[in-house]
Amino acid sequence: MCGIVGYVGPRQASDVLLGGLARLEYRGYDSAGLAIIHDEGMSVVRRVGKLQNLINAVGATPVPGSVGIGHTRWATHGKPSEDNAHPHVDCTGRIAVVHNGIVENYSDLREELARNGHILRSETDTETVAHLVESYFEGDLADAVAHTLRRLEGSYALAVAHLDDPHTIIAARKDSPLIIGVGVGENIVASDIPAVLEYTREVVVLHDEEIAVVTRAGVTVRDMDGEAVEPEMMHVEWDLDAAEKGGYEDFMLKEIFEQPTAIRETLRGRMSANGEIQLSELQMTAEEIAAVERVFILACGTSYHAGIVAKTLIETWARIPVQVEVSSEFRYADPIVDDQTLVVAITQSGETADTLAGVREARDRGARVMAITNVVGSRVTRESDGVIYTHAGPEIGVAATKTFTAQMAALYVLALKLTQAKGMLPQERIEAIWQDLSRVPDVVEAILQDLDPVKDCASAYKDVYSSLFLGRGIGVPVAMEGALKLKEISYIHAEAYAAGEMKHGPIALITEQVPVVVVATQGHTYEKVVSNIQEVRARGARVIAVATHGDDDIRRHAEHVLHVPATGELLSAIPATIPLQLLAYYIAKLRGCNVDQPRNLAKSVTVE
Ligand code: AGP
Repeated sequence: MCGIVGYVGPRQASDVLLGGLARLEYRGYDSAGLAIIHDEGMSVVRRVGKLQNLINAVGATPVPGSVGIGHTRWATHGKPSEDNAHPHVDCTGRIAVVHNGIVENYSDLREELARNGHILRSETDTETVAHLVESYFEGDLADAVAHTLRRLEGSYALAVAHLDDPHTIIAARKDSPLIIGVGVGENIVASDIPAVLEYTREVVVLHDEEIAVVTRAGVTVRDMDGEAVEPEMMHVEWDLDAAEKGGYEDFMLKEIFEQPTAIRETLRGRMSANGEIQLSELQMTAEEIAAVERVFILACGTSYHAGIVAKTLIETWARIPVQVEVSSEFRYADPIVDDQTLVVAITQSGETADTLAGVREARDRGARVMAITNVVGSRVTRESDGVIYTHAGPEIGVAATKTFTAQMAALYVLALKLTQAKGMLPQERIEAIWQDLSRVPDVVEAILQDLDPVKDCASAYKDVYSSLFLGRGIGVPVAMEGALKLKEISYIHAEAYAAGEMKHGPIALITEQVPVVVVATQGHTYEKVVSNIQEVRARGARVIAVATHGDDDIRRHAEHVLHVPATGELLSAIPATIPLQLLAYYIAKLRGCNVDQPRNLAKSVTVE
């Protein structure tokens, strides 16, 4: 995710901004920049790549001044480039803006601004903010920002500086974090606490739709209508290491807790007011989509599991046959794909060698390739015909968590788009599914609020050497992902099966020492799953069931029950995943494992 730092005080702003951005480097970024106000005007310096490139540029040509804003950008709109790097300025070059989040209605705003004579120089959504502030500014910067924010759909954390108000930074947020470190005679705006810890431990926590006016003298907070708001103060107890992890013990746990936001951001803006699923990235006409006869999904590891979820969705709703293949097999399998096939390559990193090779193979055979990735500008984005981005932000833990649930969110959108284009479900049904899907981030939030059952479960099973994971239908890929998470971070052997396969071999493994984790959420095969549970229990297995809230009967069949709120059967894949991520996490922690960097594994597998 992008990083924001803003400074007002007696020091050289460039030192504070560069130091603060360095503290946010762990979050990942692809370019960096700063804007400093000084006696002769405003200087903007931006560089692609590592922060060191910006540090070198500022070192070569120092930028004096004690008010400024800085940014590390994780691209969402437009490739990583100097033009797209923040800060963005208005037509006059007197207003500078840094922004985290997504302005959903940016293309409408760009058109409107261009019609009104504004010259936009980047491909970003953020630049619209600078030009809107320019058009609304009548002497009060906070008012101009408030006016601008009313025009924005989407999420934002913003810092704005204006030469006409050279001792002030305006900060505002909605659905994207922003705090203000409160010092003595100096104040620092930041998207995350590590950036301010060198100067202060007292912070103002900005809330949604609050606007802060930050000067040397202090911080005042107002709402969108100009009414004063009492700022919420917080004293930070964490050290720097803990602060980078947002107070969590590890990046993995932090990323598990970031899932509601990752899913929400990925779904954001995907349904228009007239009920149409928005997926212009497909770059296909309605007729072309309707003509798709087959879908082929390529992916590895966790992304492959997202692919299997997608198969169920697309086949059930859109009635298009879907084949899912691990990329390393696809590339050598002489695959049957042609120009009637839509190939979907799922890769959070966008750099997985086998998936990239599969993409080339598919395109050589005439297929249209759509990539789903979390990394703007990654190789898969350059080698595919279209890209759907997940908006999970950088994932630092090697074990994929938030990128997995964000991939599923993107695949729900794709499946609904195909369904709508093919006319396979009534519009009311599509809208009802969308309503339910929009509630999934809240459902995930609710699951994350009650950790005791999963912690108890982890304590009970932390010493086992082997385990089985079972599910049916959409529960199969959830079970597969649960098993992968457990094995990769705790080193406990874990195998996943379609529950009906148990009696064809794996049941021989069952002993009291081999717990069986069963995805038993409500669905049309629920009774069958309960029968499978009874089969394994009859052989001495201890069962951990992931079940739907309200299903208390399941307690008769399982030693441990991890409940998740009810969703429609096909939407249960995301909620049912969360307890299994947590189970793997807490077991690994109890075994003393390094969950962020498990042995032998790399975050991006760039070799075959
Ligand atoms: C899962 O926790 C792993 N990180 C791994 O299986 C991963 O999903 C796989 O290597 C594919 O990576 P990609 O999504 O970046 O292509």
